[in-house]
Amino acid sequence: MKIISDQNLNLKGKKVLLRVDLNVPMKNGAITETSRIEKIIPTIKFLLEKQAKIIILSHIGRPKGNVVKGMSLEPISKKLSSLINKEVIFNNKTVDQVKISDVENIKNCSIMMLENIRFNKGEETNDERFAKDISKLGDIFVNDAFSVSHRSHASVERVTKFIPSFYGLQISEEIKALKRITSEIKKPITLIIGGSKISTKIRIINNLIKKFNNIIIVGGMANTLLKHTGSNIGKSICEHDCADLIKEILKNSEKYNCSITYPKDVVVSKSLEGSGKNKDINDVEKDDIILDIGMKTIDNIKKIIDDTNTVLWNGPAGYFENPNFQNGTSKILEIISNKTKNDKIFSVAGGGETVAAIKKFNKLNSFTFVSTAGGAFLEYLEGKTLPGIKALNKNV
Ligand code: 3PG
Repeated sequence: MKIISDQNLNLKGKKVLLRVDLNVPMKNGAITETSRIEKIIPTIKFLLEKQAKIIILSHIGRPKGNVVKGMSLEPISKKLSSLINKEVIFNNKTVDQVKISDVENIKNCSIMMLENIRFNKGEETNDERFAKDISKLGDIFVNDAFSVSHRSHASVERVTKFIPSFYGLQISEEIKALKRITSEIKKPITLIIGGSKISTKIRIINNLIKKFNNIIIVGGMANTLLKHTGSNIGKSICEHDCADLIKEILKNSEKYNCSITYPKDVVVSKSLEGSGKNKDINDVEKDDIILDIGMKTIDNIKKIIDDTNTVLWNGPAGYFENPNFQNGTSKILEIISNKTKNDKIFSVAGGGETVAAIKKFNKLNSFTFVSTAGGAFLEYLEGKTLPGIKALNKNV
């Protein structure tokens, strides 16, 4: 990995094109969550110490090549400026209109943020000419946007064809953490996987089953497994055409000697708004809806985690939005967080709903690493090569 901070480059007065992911949630023009902005600060500080000129490239939303007023990066440039207590010049031209002199003329140690790169059609089409034009705005390129590295876009992938390119500090931290749950594993290693649909996670399960000792399946997707292995799940959500997927998982678990665990007891209700009742899986009735894992299952998860050195968690254990069904998710969080703190196990979590649960229960600092990348995190776990990463490795 060519990490920018390891290169011993003289960056004084050099224009550094810094691709970041400032795709933050916004409501009525206000930023509601800032972690993606905070995560780019170490790379910015490093480049400022080196007296570089920083040109920030990012997208927000999906404007599909059109200028959309509500998708300007201007409010984000202001937020970044207040977080680092330094001016961030905002250039409101579309990126294809930015002149080399616009960026050349800024002082060393200053920061210019360009407008949403997805306002240009060439970004998402990975247009060669657009990528070349972007590259002319900098002397070097730094990708610090793991969360968009699964996109073959001009400012992520093709730009690296034209300019010396490096990993930023944040992306390299993320890749190092993800390697420790995919290729450089300290065993025993356990995956806790939940969420509603097993079909959307099958590629992750089949990729990781080869290397993991345990896979614990929870959440709505456990219902599908329970149903296909003969349990009554009442009126619970379930995918009906998954018999082959389930067979594949069970076959692979034997082949690769990975133990599969799923709920032996559950919390049921008659409606999403109702209260919960702990039941053995064999006692689930026709009109019950399974909305959380039960106490025996939680105890079993604790035993497995107690014997584990590395844990990956993706997907909640139940319908945690209703406090009556949050116990499974909150207990999993507690088990992993205590184990990380006391026994220094390596723990990673990621995925949209998972991060939402971690924030709800205030456990963001309880894992060794929490990934805020959505699609890129999942594709990496599926074993895919991300185009943005491949491009950085190819760049010489
Ligand atoms: C994300 O939020 O996952 C990234 O910014 C990528 O966004 P996209 O799914 O719109 O490409």
